[in-house]
Amino acid sequence: MRRLGINIDHVATIRNARGENHPDPYKAALLAMKSGADLITIHLREDRRHINDKDARKIISNKNIPVNLEMAANKKMLKIALNNKPDFVCIVPEKRQEITTEGGLNLKKNYKSILKIIEILNKSKIRTSLFINPSIKDIKLSKMLGTNCIEIHTGKLSNLIKKNKNYSNELKKIYNSTKYATKLGVEVHAGHGMDYKTTRVLSKIKDIKEFNIGHFIIGESVFNGLKKTIKYFKKISK
Ligand code: PXP
Repeated sequence: MRRLGINIDHVATIRNARGENHPDPYKAALLAMKSGADLITIHLREDRRHINDKDARKIISNKNIPVNLEMAANKKMLKIALNNKPDFVCIVPEKRQEITTEGGLNLKKNYKSILKIIEILNKSKIRTSLFINPSIKDIKLSKMLGTNCIEIHTGKLSNLIKKNKNYSNELKKIYNSTKYATKLGVEVHAGHGMDYKTTRVLSKIKDIKEFNIGHFIIGESVFNGLKKTIKYFKKISK
């Protein structure tokens, strides 16, 4: 059964727009779990533009919520992860000026620093994942780095689908990457920019074991409510 991770960062984006306490991301995490989410994903960014340290601490400390902490590969973030002990960590690239995570990690350039972080997290029994583009080269490097999982960046596929452009090449890359990683014993996840259609398309790749979806679900909840939206995603992501 494929897992559905709900990224609640943008509940915090709405809260932060007023600088007050509503809506509360912790309350959203509880409701998401009650509505069928398998895990909660949060991205603690360097500039804390959405989720902040207090949110992360509160959500992770509830041991009934499986938490996937997305973080940049640096010492400060590693310290936060080791202090809070989320169930899972997904290492993501991070640029201060970007609106959202624009692409996968540069594993070749950051090999040594990522290797160190993966080793430490593995020792702490935190499941590790690397956010990468669908490329065989990056999967080989991921395997060498000793990560438990990879998450394939689906932003390009999602954009092509949204613009009604031909997406068969990109889908083929994701399919081949998934097959290859699975053969190497690395679990495959997918996420970024996913909506109903992207989810239906990617659901056909059975070896993808987890989807992590955020912005569209929080946006769609304005119209349909969080519970109904998650239930529907759960249905189509099987
Ligand atoms: N997976 C990863 C690794 C991400 O960095 C993000 C964005 O924070 C997501 C999934 C969710 O992307 P979206 O909000 O576009 O659904």
